Amino acid sequence: MRIFLVTSAICVLVLFTGITADSNAAAFAKCRAINKKVHLFLNEFTKLAKKLNPHLLIGYNVQTVNDSNYVRGFLYGAGYSTPKDEHPGTVYSDTANLQLINQQKVIQGKDNNFLAVPFKQLNNQTIFYTAQSSPNSNTAELDPSTTTSYAIALMIEQVRKFYEIDAKAVYSYFVKDISINQYIRVFTTTPDINGHYATGESLSQTVASVMDAGKVYKGKVVLFGKNYIAVYRTYNSFSTKVVIGSAVLA
Ligand SMILES: *[C@@H]1O[C@H](CO)[C@@H](O)[C@H](O)[C@H]1NC(C)=O
Ligand SMILES: *[C@@H]1O[C@H](CO)[C@@H](O)[C@H](O)[C@H]1NC(C)=O
Repeated sequence: MRIFLVTSAICVLVLFTGITADSNAAAFAKCRAINKKVHLFLNEFTKLAKKLNPHLLIGYNVQTVNDSNYVRGFLYGAGYSTPKDEHPGTVYSDTANLQLINQQKVIQGKDNNFLAVPFKQLNNQTIFYTAQSSPNSNTAELDPSTTTSYAIALMIEQVRKFYEIDAKAVYSYFVKDISINQYIRVFTTTPDINGHYATGESLSQTVASVMDAGKVYKGKVVLFGKNYIAVYRTYNSFSTKVVIGSAVLA
């Protein structure tokens, strides 16, 4: 009798952990698939830049919750080799431009050679798009692919696709803000505690240290008070290492 009880207890235990492992495996597989799609989504920006005049640079910047500075999500041009100090995660430092961005003003440079368009998110963090002609470009506007407004319109159209990747999971693209040494959510569908997209929020230290080690994080996470099963890893995008993570409710 006692042996029977012990054996059935073990059976129940095996069965139970078996089920948990299986459901986590399914969640991990789903997260991995979404992460790949987010990576493809990011690569669409480099393809988009190739459709434009090679001297036109497109950029996307996000205000961090931590210090309200703006980090570059990317700055990219097909005919331009982005210097290291303008890679994803570097801080945008043109103070005159930032003053206008913080007032939610569109900035238009002379000869249409620069355009910056800010948007305040519902969590009160501002993001802004930029398009600019690099110094050695020909300013003649022969077709739309040479114009800054066309470039920004294409970027906004592309960003919309991020939110359509998967409605049943949450996912984010992070860059490492080199000034505060934290990974910042650039694009995200993760809701914060108010139910707004957590744009500009930092990745937890636990996951961040796994990313710093170049490893994959697979497991439970708590995001703004909710439990999830998540997978995070680094990818190469925009000539540097970035982090993509996705999660399903646990
Ligand atoms: C954003 O700012 C407005 C105006 O200052 C404030 O009323 C609102 O509560 C803020 N929202 C969040 C999510 O902090
Ligand atoms: C902001 O960044 C500092 C410096 O890295 C860090 O110590 C602090 O915990 C961060 N605060 C938040 C709210 O993330």
